[in-house]
Amino acid sequence: MTTSFIGVYDSGLGGLSVLRAIHQVLPRERLVYFADSAHAPYGDRSISWIEQRVSAVVASLEAQGAKAVVLACNTATAVAVENLRLKYSIPIVAIEPGIKVAIERTLSGVVGVIGTTGTLHSDRYQTLLARLKGKVEVLSCATPGLVEYIEANQLEAEGLRALLQQYIQPMLHRGIDQLVLGCTHYPFIEQQIRQVVGDRVSLVNPAGAVANYLNQLLQSHGLLTVEITSALIEKEGREARPEGLSNIQVVTSGEVTLAQQFLKQSVGWQLTPVFAELPVLS
Ligand code: DGL
Repeated sequence: MTTSFIGVYDSGLGGLSVLRAIHQVLPRERLVYFADSAHAPYGDRSISWIEQRVSAVVASLEAQGAKAVVLACNTATAVAVENLRLKYSIPIVAIEPGIKVAIERTLSGVVGVIGTTGTLHSDRYQTLLARLKGKVEVLSCATPGLVEYIEANQLEAEGLRALLQQYIQPMLHRGIDQLVLGCTHYPFIEQQIRQVVGDRVSLVNPAGAVANYLNQLLQSHGLLTVEITSALIEKEGREARPEGLSNIQVVTSGEVTLAQQFLKQSVGWQLTPVFAELPVLS
């Protein structure tokens, strides 16, 4: 890979929900996705472990020429983003639970949030909540166990359904009409969540907003792949179209076959991931 790229990183496969949104908004950008599946989930690990691991991954991405990094992981953001921004000079885009949108949209005045223990118990999340919630009641429910099912590509497992019932039913009884997906893995079980909440509850997924923000940020830093885009527009006389998936590389520290299956079944992409303990470009 010769040109500079955007690094997109999650503790595992969940951040592919963000990668997909980024590719939709920025189809010409080179994207390198790192799934740290060998170490997922991060959500139940210590703060110092997460800080060290996230810093090592971002260092590796930067050393190989990333022009920006997207932390497609709520847990990594909650624990590590502030220090990362002090340490690295490239733009670091982060994701956090879309509470603001849910609060703006709620009619019942009760909003639910599901996410990992690491995210929901973090100081960053508690500060966000205190700043935004106003008169709205926000019910936060840590949901350990879900990421493991998604990482194992066991999306139809009975155990997963049982956990969703256990976590979400109490919030339904208390009248939520918005449910924030505060973990990037959860859009991949949207159907299963929908079966529990029915159609009166809206699911809030910030992936699209993150992709749009990244677009603006790259523009304002002069980092967009504009040369390619404008040259193509000139040549083709129209907005450049995505060239399939040739500009996307997926690297995993976990099982390559599992990641490949997941990409095919859940993302709808035919891609062959490569294995590495830390992100490396082929
Ligand atoms: N996708 C990650 C997130 O958004 C999962 C975190 C974990 O590995 O626990 O929080």
